[in-house]
Amino acid sequence: MKVLVTGGAGYIGSHTCVLLLEAGHTVTVIDNLCNSSAIALARVQELAGRPLRFLQGDIRSRTDLSGAFEGGVDAVIHFAALKAVGESCDEPLRYFDTNIGGTIALMQAMETAGVSKLVFSSSATVYGQPDSVPVNEGAPLRVTNPYGRTKLVMEQLIQDWCAARPELSAVLLRYFNPVGAHPSGRIGEDPRGEPNNLMPCVAQVAVGHRSHLRVFGDDYATPDGTGIRDYLHVMDLAQAHLKALEYVGLHNGCEIFNLGAGHGHSVIELVRAFESASGRNIPMEIMKRRSGDVAELTADPSHANVRLGWSAERDLSMACADAWRWQKANPLGFTPDPE
Ligand code: NAD
Ligand code: UD1
Repeated sequence: MKVLVTGGAGYIGSHTCVLLLEAGHTVTVIDNLCNSSAIALARVQELAGRPLRFLQGDIRSRTDLSGAFEGGVDAVIHFAALKAVGESCDEPLRYFDTNIGGTIALMQAMETAGVSKLVFSSSATVYGQPDSVPVNEGAPLRVTNPYGRTKLVMEQLIQDWCAARPELSAVLLRYFNPVGAHPSGRIGEDPRGEPNNLMPCVAQVAVGHRSHLRVFGDDYATPDGTGIRDYLHVMDLAQAHLKALEYVGLHNGCEIFNLGAGHGHSVIELVRAFESASGRNIPMEIMKRRSGDVAELTADPSHANVRLGWSAERDLSMACADAWRWQKANPLGFTPDPE
């Protein structure tokens, strides 16, 4: 297939591009590099041993989008978005513009180009505080911040679009907590500024960039008192996108899938797993709870297991080993390789 990947230079997009190229797809990436590096794409091509087409452009620009659709596109995987919860509370309009405005512009460009297949990156954040865990796709949706609201609105816009156009085929993927890196250690998560998510914070302590990990609350109703999440290896997540591409090739309409391992780990369990993988001590300081956090959020991934034929195969220790390999070899993130 000819696949257009928006946000393909980013964390999840770059890992997915490796698998797309390895599977023989023709890949075009559009990314404005606002949260990523072109070095990631150079390494994607090196890992896959095949080229992709890269267009440095913005999904909000009709001109940039029409360039991306040149040469023909069979399906779009739409990763490009802003994703920091705290920032979305401070700058909601920027989030509405990029995430919602960008997605509308993309759908318009798809319609103009006659492209009918879309795979969309949603998030478990749409569930907010769940009534019970694990959550399935029918659980109530309760967003708690502007970032989450943009994901929910984008899901609804895509559903409305599919309802109006029976020839369309879309898959909305609700990711739980992506972690880890490509096993080569050549690509991985490279957050700009202060990371918000747990694994990059732990990795930065292990490599010596931070003195300790701040643990946000040890008084939750969980066995060790720290929050429980469903950590999913980014290579498993990337693989799910290939399954989703097959799915949109075979089914019309709009389908939603949770992507998670189906079980959770606490903050302390993740820290211990990272200590074993890295051989480094991770000092912790217990802080008060982070606002907006829930005690436990895990996926019921059975819909994806059955209908997509996908399930997570890599465990947390593998994710920690791969994240550590990436962090150790690239302590400053993506920097040019020495000549
Ligand atoms: P990322 O920031 O690494 O990747 C997003 C990419 O989109 C970046 O390369 C960025 O430069 C690009 N981008 C942003 N705005 C753009 C614009 N206007 N035009 C063109 N490119 C633009 O993030 P990620 O972790 O790879 O996340 C990918 C998708 O998955 C996002 O939609 C995110 O909301 C979603 N998601 C991520 C997580 C997670 O924990 N990483 C969890 C759930 C959902
Ligand atoms: C966060 C976002 C969510 C987003 C998801 C994936 C919030 C409130 N939620 O979810 O919208 O979809 O990331 O990008 O920001 N933790 C620490 N110390 C840290 C960092 C995290 O103790 O320095 C704890 C958290 O309290 C939580 C767990 O680690 O219990 C996981 O946190 P994180 O990686 O930020 O993911 P989520 O909270 O699931």
